[in-house]
Amino acid sequence: MPALVLIGAQWGDEGKGKATDQLGGRVDYVVKFNGGNNAGHTVVIGGETYALHLLPSGILSAGCTPVIANGVVIDLGVLFTEIDGLEARGTDTSKLVVSANAHVIPSYNRVLDKVTERFLGSRKIGTTGRGIGPTYADKMNRVGIRVQDLFDEKILRAKVEGALELKAQVLLKVYNRKAPAVDDVVEDLLSYVDRLRPMVADTGLLLGQALDAGKTVLLEGGQATLLDVDHGTYPFVTSSNATSGGACTGSGIAPNRIDKVIAVVKAYTTRVGEGPFPTELLDDAGEKLRADGHEYGTTTGRPRRCGWYDAVIARYAARVNGVTDFVLTKLDVLTGWDKIPVCMAYEVDGRRFDEMPMTQTDFHHAVPVYDYFDGWTEDITSARTFEDLPKNAQLYIRALEEMSGAPFSSVGVGPDREQTLELRPLV
Ligand code: GDP
Ligand code: IMO
Ligand code: MG
Repeated sequence: MPALVLIGAQWGDEGKGKATDQLGGRVDYVVKFNGGNNAGHTVVIGGETYALHLLPSGILSAGCTPVIANGVVIDLGVLFTEIDGLEARGTDTSKLVVSANAHVIPSYNRVLDKVTERFLGSRKIGTTGRGIGPTYADKMNRVGIRVQDLFDEKILRAKVEGALELKAQVLLKVYNRKAPAVDDVVEDLLSYVDRLRPMVADTGLLLGQALDAGKTVLLEGGQATLLDVDHGTYPFVTSSNATSGGACTGSGIAPNRIDKVIAVVKAYTTRVGEGPFPTELLDDAGEKLRADGHEYGTTTGRPRRCGWYDAVIARYAARVNGVTDFVLTKLDVLTGWDKIPVCMAYEVDGRRFDEMPMTQTDFHHAVPVYDYFDGWTEDITSARTFEDLPKNAQLYIRALEEMSGAPFSSVGVGPDREQTLELRPLV
């Protein structure tokens, strides 16, 4: 079996964690390839809830090897807190492998993330404040600190010194903040090295050899298509490639080894942070979706902005990622609506757009063109097959499938591992 990619189709929080966990039992490796602890995945197994940020969701499947690949940025404090939390609950984390090429998030980048947002004022991005953007910026500026740098104190010190030379000035002169001392940063990073060392490997080589040996590798994306730094709603995006292309650069697995691209898509839409969102509901309907869907961030606890399903976005995600299968989630949250609106296209200043507009200005001004589907009132949380669903729920799924550009392979009717209808096998 080859490699599978699993990514988010919208603005994140589609239920990637649950989908990954579900496949975890059927794959040999689950690889996180982008992002860091800006991600938040809630996985529910038999009533037990797990909140994951940095660890791949495959960590909850016993037979599976979880991998943090080169494309991830790692907050080492968060990594070990999360490991300890899982171990305390009886989850074995001993198989975890971490790339020697992954970048670490030094403390000064968490500070910079927060002060930059404050400085931007009304132009802020609404980041998670975890130092993600500054750490990817350091990577591109070639002043980042990689996991392997922790193995050579002299090199580590030289790199931290180099990075802080400019940042200390910026922190002091622009933001009126004192930068941390080089010694303190180095000491903090080195405090993790003994625990980290046995986990570190050349993960590109490891995964290449695993694929050669016929193993199955699942590449799990953090964030989502419209948060991708190239293909998302820039500048209101994260700082990594969350689309399927990022799975290759972020893991060292070549494109021709990837067999399937699975996109997780919610039966409605949510977004956290700033930026355009055409189907956003600022009224009671939005409040109801937020309440029914428990739409509060796993990472920051912020209320998520809510709106109707947007087929333009789904088609865009299908094209940009080469989606072979959609996993539809949270259908149960839509129970109880008389009519369910779905955005089929946009109108911008009298012009109709069936595809994403080329410019951000047009996307900002996009007014949804809605079609209305009949709702259902029956509780669907115990449905286990497509046929168990009320007729109108079946019609809603088939209509979304037709307009979204790829087949729907499964449907979520609740947060638990069990609450899923499999329409066709993914692995
Ligand atoms: P991720 O970031 O894409 O992994 O998604 P999050 O975990 O941040 O947010 C998705 C939330 O929806 C989590 O609380 C899940 O437990 C929950 N969830 C996932 N699938 C379903 C579903 O089909 N129905 C319901 N009601 N909740 C779901
Ligand atoms: P998962 O993996 C939803 C959003 C932030 C902000 C923007 C940039 O759980 O789907 P960053 O801290 O990354 O620089 O913030 O991206 N964001 C997410 N929104 N789900 C996520 O991850 C997110 N990760 C980042 O809210 O708007
Ligand atoms: Mg999330």
